[in-house]
Amino acid sequence: MSIDNVNPRLQAVKEIESLLNGNDHEPINNGDAFYKSLLGISIRRLGEIQFHLQKYIKKPLKENQNIIKANLIIGATQILYMRVPQYAAVNASVELAKIHSPHHVKFVNAILRQLTRDFKVENIQNLDPLINIPKKIITRWKKYINNNDLQKIAKQLLVIPPALDIALSGQENIDVWCKNLKGDIIGKNNIRLKDNYGKIDNLFGYDQGAWWIQDIAAQLPSKILLSSVKPNAYVIDMCAAPGGKTAQLLTNGLDVVSIESNLNRAQLLKKNLKRLNLKTELIIQDANKYKPQKLADAVLIDAPCSSTGTVRKNPDILWRLSAKKNGFLNTLIPLQKSLLDSAAMMIKPKGVLIYSVCSLEKEEGEDQIIDFISKHSNFKISPINKSDIDVTHESVTEEGFIRTFPYFSEELGGMDGFFIARLEKTH
Ligand SMILES: C[S@@+](CC[C@H](N)C(=O)[O-])C[C@H]1O[C@@H](n2cnc3c(N)ncnc32)[C@H](O)[C@@H]1O
Repeated sequence: MSIDNVNPRLQAVKEIESLLNGNDHEPINNGDAFYKSLLGISIRRLGEIQFHLQKYIKKPLKENQNIIKANLIIGATQILYMRVPQYAAVNASVELAKIHSPHHVKFVNAILRQLTRDFKVENIQNLDPLINIPKKIITRWKKYINNNDLQKIAKQLLVIPPALDIALSGQENIDVWCKNLKGDIIGKNNIRLKDNYGKIDNLFGYDQGAWWIQDIAAQLPSKILLSSVKPNAYVIDMCAAPGGKTAQLLTNGLDVVSIESNLNRAQLLKKNLKRLNLKTELIIQDANKYKPQKLADAVLIDAPCSSTGTVRKNPDILWRLSAKKNGFLNTLIPLQKSLLDSAAMMIKPKGVLIYSVCSLEKEEGEDQIIDFISKHSNFKISPINKSDIDVTHESVTEEGFIRTFPYFSEELGGMDGFFIARLEKTH
């Protein structure tokens, strides 16, 4: 077998090893279709694949043997779910074992051969989709998501490709854009693509800069902000990159300061806004240290978070988070609190604070706002109304927050899970 056949698999094995180790990084996208499909399926079906493999592994592998486990997972993905000739899948994994775990070549060969003997792509039975969500995450979510809804989230994990939303900068000619992009209209200025849409920069109108990619739920925080302030309002976007929410505020004529602490992400924001012919005042620094020259009409905190609401697009997140020994909210919770405290000082009386996270975790959403309100007597919850948003009206909670889940509008392809609160500074 040539090294060219092994390479995409080797890269996929390394990615799965990193995920099992709980490392934080976005999987590399090397543009190779086979690699993308292999890695995508192996992550989305990781629970099922491990379940099948476990039947053949007599002695559990140790944590420092995750590379061997990853090699088996990548081999099994091809055998169970892809139309790769089974001998080719086994041989490739054996070649990879020779490179990184020579003492386990026979072991890898034996396990995968048993799998090819017992399974064919045609006779794989569907298991409970919840198996593809790590147990630690299920235990957390079970406290406030019922079993039926958990099942629906798990089913969304298996949708490939996840729906892609295109936010148009204006509402003009939406029908023409829809036709050219081959999508469906959802919401006021959004087109949803569901079929294999390929590379983003090859999509119709990319170079024209009339749209950007932004999930329909991720559009809500800026829409709510826009419904809360006057035209030309002065607003601070405290956590701005890659810039989707800043772009919404700018295209609607607001005076925006965008803050981003991560230099690479700030550069990405600049590049994105340049394509869209938009300009913001970009401040590259920790937003907690920013001293505005005047108080803002509104501040948006789209806070750094666990991102568990984005599982449809980033299914790897759940496994990375659950592999962390000391939990995954320890550094995020204090960071979110400090951003909220800093924002409180940047807003003028009667001004508005929008707080959002693409997380399903209550600690990052409802709990943060309840804690903030208890400590800042000059802020109150300003309930969000159905009329403030153009989609997903069922997401408005009794308290006037927004809570979307990945299975909302599942017949249309779901959406990101978001928590959004609007607060008013009373004095
Ligand atoms: C959820 S993302 C924001 C997404 C963005 N609002 C959008 O719509 O494209 C959170 C961002 O906050 C940035 N960030 C984290 N800590 C920060 C801080 N202390 N000050 C400013 N930005 C911060 C992260 O680098 C990340 O780019």
